[in-house]
Order: sequence, then structure tokens, then C-alpha cells
Amino acid sequence: MTDSFRQHWDAYTAEEHAIWRTLVHRQEEVLNGRACAEFLDGIARLGVCADGIPDFRRLDEVLGAATGWSIVAVPGLVPDEVFFAHLAERRFPSTCFIRRADQLDYLSEPDVFHDIFGHVPMLVNPVFGDYMQAYGQGGLKALGLGSLHHLARLYWYTVEFGLIATGDGPRIYGSGIVSSKGESVYCLEDPRPKRVAFDLMRVMRTRYRIDDYQESYFVIDDFAQLFEATRPDFTPYYAALKALTDIGPGAVLPEDRVLA
Ligand code: PHE
Ligand code: FE
Repeated sequence: MTDSFRQHWDAYTAEEHAIWRTLVHRQEEVLNGRACAEFLDGIARLGVCADGIPDFRRLDEVLGAATGWSIVAVPGLVPDEVFFAHLAERRFPSTCFIRRADQLDYLSEPDVFHDIFGHVPMLVNPVFGDYMQAYGQGGLKALGLGSLHHLARLYWYTVEFGLIATGDGPRIYGSGIVSSKGESVYCLEDPRPKRVAFDLMRVMRTRYRIDDYQESYFVIDDFAQLFEATRPDFTPYYAALKALTDIGPGAVLPEDRVLA
């Protein structure tokens, strides 16, 4: 890669590293018993998260050895085809800037805390790493088929806001949740949101909120289920979706399996 944009890890200030540490300590308290084992294992194996904003070069060493993923620094949101092309090559695009101290609870755009703390631990997991790469390939295809709005919902309700069933009840793996203190509690403990068993077509029909906590979460049984459900060619699914109506973000259908 000859990308000229780089992290410039040496240029972070002490204050910026302190913001990272505050965010990590807050989340570690909240995520014990709420995040899934795979996420917590990824955090433990990356092992560089508690000291301050991680140096992407150090993360690359762990990730590369574990699953062959690497991180590519980007200045902010990148065009869809660039984003998917990176994922398809097992490169995760990450922003470098960190939110200000008065933005600990909410930021409308991804920052390095969301991108790295939220996403990278799951990339240590082989099945999830394969899923993300396949998603990138599928994204390029969906773009060509005019169906990206349907595929984007799958990313939203799995990679960003996914829950996974365990013997002890649902646990979090979605990066948008694990990087939010409030939503980490809300998604599991608040009576308002619906927690619905994952169904691929149901998810791709469901609109989502970008300005508030989610009204519905979709719960997978395990990552193998997610990977298998998304393995087929989506071309016929997209054709079928064109004739199906969207579902509102908080709606419940008669056929939904709503979890307690
Ligand atoms: N199998 C999907 C397709 O053919 C690609 C995909 C894989 C999409 C994994 C999402 C997740 O389009
Ligand atoms: Fe994200």
C-alpha cells in the first residue's frame, strides 16, 4: 500500500492518551459480563489498549499473526467502494483522531476509539475475520447491483449493533455498542428495545436509527450461524428484497422470535 495518510502515533498528546484511557476504563467496567467472550478475548490478546491510544503498527503485529488482518489509517469516512475494497483485502480502515473530553458519551462520527476499541478485538477472531472479508467482497457486488442499502443494514445490525446468545443470556459483540457506555447497558437491560432472533432477510428489510440508541437488536446464535447465513450468493435475495416493504426500526412481526 502506498497510502500517504498515516496515524502519526508520536504526535498524540498526553491529553489525547488520557481520553483514551478514560474511555477504556469506563468500558472495561461495563463490558465485563455484557460483552461476549470473543470480544473480551480479543481485547486481552491485543493487550495494548490500557496504556493509551494504540500504535497501529503494534496492533498489526498481533492481528497479522492471529488472522492476517491489518489496519489502514484513514482521515474519516471513506467512499463505499474504497471501504469495501479494504475489507475484501483484510484491511480495516480506521480513523486516527480521538473525541474531545466533553464528547465521552456521544459522538456522531467514528473516531479512533470506536474504530479500534470497537472493531479490532473482533478481528482477532477467525470466523468473524472471515465474515468481515466476505462482507467487503459482498459490498462491492451489492454496489454493482444497486442493493447497498439492503446490505448496509446487515452491517449495521451485526458488525455495529449485534448481540449473540450465550447460556447466560445475550451478550454484545457490535462495535457501536461496545464503544458506548450508555448503549452497552441499554441494549441488554432496558425493557424498551426489542431483542429479536437473527434472520437475514428480516435484517435486510429493517431500517435503522443513526441518531439514537437502537429500537431493535438482532441476536445470533453464534458466529458460525452468521457466516453460514451470509455464505450464499445474495443476488436472488436482493431481487426478492426489491419487492418487499421495509420494516420500521422498532416493529415486531408475527414471525419474529422475540427474546425475553
Ligand atoms: N455472500 C454474499 C453475496 O454473495 C456476500 C456477503 C458475505 C455479504 C458476508 C455479507 C456478509 O453477496
Ligand atoms: Fe463502526
